[in-house]
Amino acid sequence: MSLPKAELHLHIEGTLEPELAFELAARNGVTLPYGDTDELREAYRFEDLQSFLNLYYELMAVLRTERDFADLTNAYLARAAAQGVRHAEIFFDPQAHTKRGLELGTVVEGLWRALERSEAEHGVSTRLIMCFLRDDPAESAMETLRAAEPYLDRIVGIGLDSAEVGHPPVKFREVYEAAAALGLRRVAHAGEEGPPAYITEALDVLGVERVDHGLRCVEDADLVERLVRERVPLTLCPLSNVRLRTVDTLAGHPLPAMLDAGLMCTVNSDDPAYFGGYAGDNFDAVREALGLTDERLRELARNSFLASFLEDDEELRAR
Ligand code: HPA
Ligand code: ZN
Repeated sequence: MSLPKAELHLHIEGTLEPELAFELAARNGVTLPYGDTDELREAYRFEDLQSFLNLYYELMAVLRTERDFADLTNAYLARAAAQGVRHAEIFFDPQAHTKRGLELGTVVEGLWRALERSEAEHGVSTRLIMCFLRDDPAESAMETLRAAEPYLDRIVGIGLDSAEVGHPPVKFREVYEAAAALGLRRVAHAGEEGPPAYITEALDVLGVERVDHGLRCVEDADLVERLVRERVPLTLCPLSNVRLRTVDTLAGHPLPAMLDAGLMCTVNSDDPAYFGGYAGDNFDAVREALGLTDERLRELARNSFLASFLEDDEELRAR
């Protein structure tokens, strides 16, 4: 589906396709515990979020140099552009790299090499969002925020990802306060596997402007009413939900009911190399499985620009 759209929920490390993983492994002398790309793809059968995260972190071993991060990002931008993405707000997981011994600068400079040429080369404007790993200590997130200060002209905001249950938003209160004081925008994953209360906490304690996933809000009518009233954008990821078994089937996804309720939903790809599709593939999948009308699809595309961190004039140009 090439409808012009913005992608607001995309982990750059989750765009590592098996072919590129093997290419980078060879380039960097890293041995992967899979014989070939087919064998690796066989491992893409996930039980839940954690079983995915295990593979996601394991494959990051092939990312070593600025050039690797630039190649990864360029490959994503080319694929996204081909599916109608005009603007991408891209998550990255600095701690997943610094804990392997990489410098934060290697990661940010590498991403930036691709991002600074993205509008000219791919026709895609971009923003970078630095995510903290919620299953790591809050102190590590705070250290990462401090280490990122030299790069804040390249980072629009912060997010929160990785294993959700047992790591409520309140754990990161001080980090989010410090980020707000630095002028950073705030988002967080909440209500993917975690309960609706985590969504409320992300809004009230962390001051987030958007909720990533937010799917489980449907279990709490008062929360839905609040999200509608406050026009809080939700960055849904339908194919991810199926692969991580957050929903049983795509045909049973609550997206149509969420739109009918007046929620400001967007459709995104999360980790497209792992979950079977990029942004346009997610649009195609919900159209086919859920019978969404063209008007609904246009609403989703419009929401993606409205919920983005683009300035008003940039937003109009991107559309
Ligand atoms: N959820 C939480 N953390 C993540 C995800 C996700 O879907 N993808 C990459 N990190
Ligand atoms: Zn995500």
